[in-house]
Amino acid sequence: MNVTLNNLMKVPYFLSSLQKDTNDIFGQVMVSGPQASEHALREKIATQSYNNYLHEISKHHSIEVMDREIELFLTAIPRNGVICDVGGGWGWHWRKLYRFRPDVNVVIVDFCKSNLHHAKNLLKDSVGKTIWLVHGDATRLEFDSGTFDGYWSVQTLQHIPDFEQSITEALRVLKAGGVFANYSLNYSWPMALLYHLLRRQYSIKTQIKTNYYLNRADRQQGVTISHLFNSHVVKRYSEILFKPGFKCHFPGKNRSWWGKLDALMSSDSPLFAWMARQRSFHTKKPLKMTSYYFQ
Ligand SMILES: C[S@@+](CC[C@H](N)C(=O)[O-])C[C@H]1O[C@@H](n2cnc3c(N)ncnc32)[C@H](O)[C@@H]1O
Repeated sequence: MNVTLNNLMKVPYFLSSLQKDTNDIFGQVMVSGPQASEHALREKIATQSYNNYLHEISKHHSIEVMDREIELFLTAIPRNGVICDVGGGWGWHWRKLYRFRPDVNVVIVDFCKSNLHHAKNLLKDSVGKTIWLVHGDATRLEFDSGTFDGYWSVQTLQHIPDFEQSITEALRVLKAGGVFANYSLNYSWPMALLYHLLRRQYSIKTQIKTNYYLNRADRQQGVTISHLFNSHVVKRYSEILFKPGFKCHFPGKNRSWWGKLDALMSSDSPLFAWMARQRSFHTKKPLKMTSYYFQ
């Protein structure tokens, strides 16, 4: 009984309605519908174990680029702010949080529970202190409206067929003035042409091999976010040099000089837009919204 009371006291208010399992993972979600096959595939892949997480991550993401993007995002988060990382997977973006912003709490939400086990291995002692793991779905987050100061999502919303629903959910859980950032694979017509000339597949908005849905970031997504948030949206282009599709992984590595250069090249300038692997959209929830947007 004492142990239960103790645990209850440690749980922050934003998780108080969720049950915690023995692995420090809060909540529970059943995945059915259009993402069921993706969920099954991700659970299967996540049964693998890894000796070097960062090495594995660098095959899929540029560590230096995303570390810089996180630093920029954190500058907009108020003191003692709470961030929701939706589809946070292994949670690696937050591995240096205790150094930069020990005052900030991060809730990592993912529908693949086994990825959250990896997050716990990677983030170690931070889990249960300032980083919290939640088994949940981006399209129906189990948090009260107006819970978070920041909404951060990387290469997750691109897999959700109902983009508008995930943005509506982001808007709901953000506080007024809360910061929104979503990164997806970029749609670039010159890259599409290059892939076509090389006789390679360049999926834009489609179901891939019955497992994944992919919806690349395009102009229309920016318009949708701007309309729903009723707010100005800024776009950024990142991972300019990192090209895993062409087996060019080395700029993705931790402490890579190519990665550091790539991080500097990532910006809101359209100069490298055509070769950027990622496009992100950034906005804020207005302090006052008309009631229409709360429907
Ligand atoms: C490409 S991975 C990106 C992981 C992480 N954001 C990163 O940058 O390393 C996509 C992640 O989103 C999760 N995901 C996909 N759809 C989701 C949904 N509807 N709700 C919650 N998580 C989801 C997957 O399980 C996976 O961990």
